[in-house]
Amino acid sequence: MTWTPPPYPYDRLAPLRDKAAALPGGVVDLSIGDPTDAPPPAVVAALASSGAERSYPTSVGSPEFRRAASAWFADVLGVTVAPSLVGACVGTKELVAGLPGWLRLRDPSRDTVLYPAISYPTYAMGAVLAGCRAVAVPVDGSGRVVLAAIDERDAARALCLWVNTPGNPAGGLDDLEAAAAWGRARHVPVISDECYVEFTWDGPPRTILSSGLDGVIAVHSLSKRSNLAGIRCGFYAGDPELMAFLLELRKHAGLMTPGPVLAAGTVALADRTHVDVQRGRYRERLARLREIVSLAGAAAPFPAGGFYLWVPSPGGDDWAFVERLALDGGLLGSPGEFYGEAGRGHVRLAAVAPLERLDLVAARLGG
Ligand SMILES: Cc1ncc(COP(=O)(O)O)c(C=O)c1O
Repeated sequence: MTWTPPPYPYDRLAPLRDKAAALPGGVVDLSIGDPTDAPPPAVVAALASSGAERSYPTSVGSPEFRRAASAWFADVLGVTVAPSLVGACVGTKELVAGLPGWLRLRDPSRDTVLYPAISYPTYAMGAVLAGCRAVAVPVDGSGRVVLAAIDERDAARALCLWVNTPGNPAGGLDDLEAAAAWGRARHVPVISDECYVEFTWDGPPRTILSSGLDGVIAVHSLSKRSNLAGIRCGFYAGDPELMAFLLELRKHAGLMTPGPVLAAGTVALADRTHVDVQRGRYRERLARLREIVSLAGAAAPFPAGGFYLWVPSPGGDDWAFVERLALDGGLLGSPGEFYGEAGRGHVRLAAVAPLERLDLVAARLGG
């Protein structure tokens, strides 16, 4: 029997996007969460002037990039990570999708990927692409993984446990200490996707590496922090033995972040001012989005982190609410079903459009 990939979730929104686009003023697309704000000019300048086009980049990342990431870990998250324990990736989606297959090569006796039941779809897809079992871990009402609900038989087969803080889509903040301890007790690597860490609203930003590097890896991205989704730049760091394995394997797989991208990423990581500005934008837009969904009869909590509003659909049907927002407001969101069966009944809105576009939606909804 042949296998065909399922439809890409966001492609399923195309008919509704077309309908919203037909309204005067067009669609306000908050579905995928594509950044629309400009990256810092110095970063774009570095991209254009690195002189790194000619030669192959090193798969692990340039020494400058790894040093910049190490300094960023110290400055922003207060943890010491040697540059040698940092690796570059070609955006983090690539790493998330590929990791289960690589971990399986490391330990063929295990075949299971544990991931939050409401989450970024690529955790489960990475398992599928590697021919592994994807086992969803229940989450609580705030989107945090419930470690106690993991069946020990699944844990014994687990290649890794994914956690995501702040979480996409619900914005929850996991107890990362507890997740690390859970993994260490069972020899299950815990991979902590922290790509929204600088958009933590409740308390300081947090990393799993604060509990030590043993058995854990933190994954980070410049896509949203610096509005650089288009250049594909991320990094990961943690457990020395796991890192040595992954850094070496990725060389063989030809996974290389381009040199100009590493140069731009190095500049971006050294600057926090633009991230402060972006944080302000997201806070403001999230607040406005809460007002907008209330015009459509929904009440959504401000998230503990991240730039998504996770909205309970009035009436409980996520697709029906997505359709109503698209047809009445020209606003395109994502049905919660995209983030797992347990996500049904919610709609995710990414706070990526400028306020004037959100005002247009509010006006359409009668606000
Ligand atoms: C939780 C999470 N992890 C990883 C990614 C991938 O980001 P990128 O590949 O742009 O680094 C995304 C993108 O939306 C995400 O939401």
